[in-house]
Amino acid sequence: MVLIRWVLGRQDIRLLQRRRSLLLTLAAIVFAVLLFCEFFIYHIVIFQCSWPELKTTAHGAQEPLLKAMFLADTHLLGERRGHWLDKLRREWQMERAFQTALWWLQPEVIFILGDIFDEGKWSSSQAWADDVQRFQKMFRHPSHMQLKVVAGNHDIGFHYQMSEYRVKRFEKVFSPERLFSWKGVNFVMVNSVALEGDGCDICSQAEAELVEISHKLNCSREQVQGSDQCGDGQWLPWSAPVLLQHYPLYRISDANCSGDDAAPPEERSIPFEERYDVLSREASQKLLWWLQPRLVLSGHTHSACEVLHAGGVPEISIPSFSWRNRNNPSFIMGSLTSRDYALSKCYLPFEDTVLTTYCGAAGFVLVLVLAHFECLASPFLFGWNLLRMPTPTTRFFLDLRELPSKPWQWAEQETTAA
Ligand SMILES: *[C@@H]1O[C@H](CO)[C@@H](O)[C@H](O)[C@H]1NC(C)=O
Ligand SMILES: *[C@@H]1O[C@H](CO)[C@@H](O)[C@H](O)[C@H]1NC(C)=O
Ligand SMILES: [Zn+2]
Repeated sequence: MVLIRWVLGRQDIRLLQRRRSLLLTLAAIVFAVLLFCEFFIYHIVIFQCSWPELKTTAHGAQEPLLKAMFLADTHLLGERRGHWLDKLRREWQMERAFQTALWWLQPEVIFILGDIFDEGKWSSSQAWADDVQRFQKMFRHPSHMQLKVVAGNHDIGFHYQMSEYRVKRFEKVFSPERLFSWKGVNFVMVNSVALEGDGCDICSQAEAELVEISHKLNCSREQVQGSDQCGDGQWLPWSAPVLLQHYPLYRISDANCSGDDAAPPEERSIPFEERYDVLSREASQKLLWWLQPRLVLSGHTHSACEVLHAGGVPEISIPSFSWRNRNNPSFIMGSLTSRDYALSKCYLPFEDTVLTTYCGAAGFVLVLVLAHFECLASPFLFGWNLLRMPTPTTRFFLDLRELPSKPWQWAEQETTAA
């Protein structure tokens, strides 16, 4: 009796130990996969991005170089739309991607081209404060990096929703400055929602600001300096500006766009609506005349595109930075001097990669658990036992093995038998 109980006890302990080691293995796998998918993958992917080289610096020109990062359409979910888990997950992804990018790439200035929030167009002041707080945590940055933000239609509403109140509360958080000049590079940040052209208060104010900036830029041109109109005001360094806005300049459609992250082929040729998908022709023309930009960057479409406007002005549409809007979000890295610039694109990890890793890991864990409880092992065990136990079938195969493998031996055997 004592012996039996002792043996049973031993078996229990062994079972417990096996359970515990299984649990530990599972915990280790889950931890490793989480760490990889939620943390390291951002480092592995973003580490591979690098700042584009300028052609002029290769020739030894000593101009100060500005490293700028451009992203768009982060669409932080508000209180009304989207499941809380969706919100949590997207925000974690963007925070990791942004923080990892700052860590490896060290940009000097970061521009977000509108639609920072998804529900700024209708959120209550309480919800707005909450959204802003989360934004500031996600996009925190050291003080030597500057973060500049352009308003989008989801931040202050489409033109018909836009109110003095919404514009003011946006500009209280993100400075209302329109002209930003650093290291000889001029950026003009346009509130493109206010370019409706219907003479509304906010619209006429926005246009007046643009004309003033245009005047300043014209005065900074050497040939105009000294003319009566410019006075002795502080001149900007002369350099054609980079235009930053939420709505793209007018284009018929995305039909000519190409690349991995352009709009899907079936959507590309759908014509754009002026003042809704893109700026009106009129407003686009005015911006090009007034500001004479050398480069335009915009958001809003959530897809990538490169367009060449009249006068050879290139425009780059920056895809959305959120996995909620696409599988392959990205941001643009720009090396700029007052005369030259070079851009490159840095992709974030693909959402598919992360999901596949999770599914693979879940499958592996399932196999481990099943194997532990021997649910899975039984077919294998069955096969194994079949080979070991001399049942009639296996005996047949075993007998085959005993037969001589060479034909002449067969013949010999036959003759001896005869
Ligand atoms: C600045 O110069 C451009 C190009 O010559 C011109 O189209 C624009 O109207 C000028 N801006 C102002 C405010 O005069
Ligand atoms: C595409 O490019 C062609 C040739 O440059 C041009 O004629 C056409 O208008 C463009 N289409 C769109 C939709 O931009
Ligand atoms: Zn938008």
